[in-house]
Amino acid sequence: MEDALQEIRARALSDIAAAGDLHTLETLRVGLVGRSGSVSVIGEQMKTVPKEQRPLFGKLLNDTRNSISAALEARQAQLVARCDAQAVSSIDITLPARLHPDPGALHPVTQMQDRVIQILRRLGFAMADGPDIDDEWHCFDALNTPADHPARNETDTYYLPDGQLLRTHTSTVQIRTMEKQPPPVRVICPGAAYRRDEVDATHLNQFNQIEGLYVAENVSLANLKGTLEYFLRELLGANTEIRFRPHFFPFTEPSFEVDAKLPGTNRWLELAGCGMVDPAVFEAINQRRGDNAFDPERVTGYAFGFGIDRLTMILTGTTDIRMLVENDLRYLQQFRQ
Ligand code: DAH
Repeated sequence: MEDALQEIRARALSDIAAAGDLHTLETLRVGLVGRSGSVSVIGEQMKTVPKEQRPLFGKLLNDTRNSISAALEARQAQLVARCDAQAVSSIDITLPARLHPDPGALHPVTQMQDRVIQILRRLGFAMADGPDIDDEWHCFDALNTPADHPARNETDTYYLPDGQLLRTHTSTVQIRTMEKQPPPVRVICPGAAYRRDEVDATHLNQFNQIEGLYVAENVSLANLKGTLEYFLRELLGANTEIRFRPHFFPFTEPSFEVDAKLPGTNRWLELAGCGMVDPAVFEAINQRRGDNAFDPERVTGYAFGFGIDRLTMILTGTTDIRMLVENDLRYLQQFRQ
């Protein structure tokens, strides 16, 4: 029986060393130390061994089983390592990474908004925000817009059943900022505005504006002109011609429209509304705040508002504003950055 064990062990060790894959190794394991494997079968013969020889036989049996198990384990580790090495050998880790096939890109209006914000932030404007759904007071009354103003008409403005409205301009954020914060105030607010317009090549009923407001002591019309000229030349090119045309807005006095003539072109483009904040606006704010923080005798301010979609159209050569919202990839992909 001893000889039989020696023989099993010698054969097992050489078979294990020769096993070329994990499947063969598993078959060997079952055949050797599995429940009816050859080592286990010999173990069962223990009963027939004379009592005095049993300890020796038991030890030999254990040694055999242990050395076979150790050999199986070692060979298994070798085979797994070899498999792993084969699996990664076909990967060239020095190849450049494969780019995502369609990473997406920012919409041209978003790109334009980012550029505008970047320039104005350099001039010291902070970002302000306000709700798209607002009330008549913030959208019209506080902005000195009388009850009979056509913009307040149901045919021009989207009113909600509860009497609130979709803001018709981002000028609401001027009011919300001054309500919360005493002068000096220097903010810009990009965002959507809504008007009940017939959609055509130059009108959308939801569009984007950016509003600017600067209130402090001694803010002058010269500051407004200098700021907008600098801003427009940064955006449109150093040789852009700029003119201020007198206009009317209820919330500024005097008020202007700002036109620009791009270098190498001959047409004036209307780009923005602006003016010096009307003292009536400051008074409405003071009343709401319950103080005199925006004392019209002490502080002055300027405000301006741009259409971001319009700037996008001009700078991308887009002739129909609807292209901006139709999500046609043939159009959008031209502005991928
Ligand atoms: N709110 C005006 C509009 O939507 C734009 C505008 C004009 C904003 C003059 C201003 C401003 O702040 O001073 O047409």
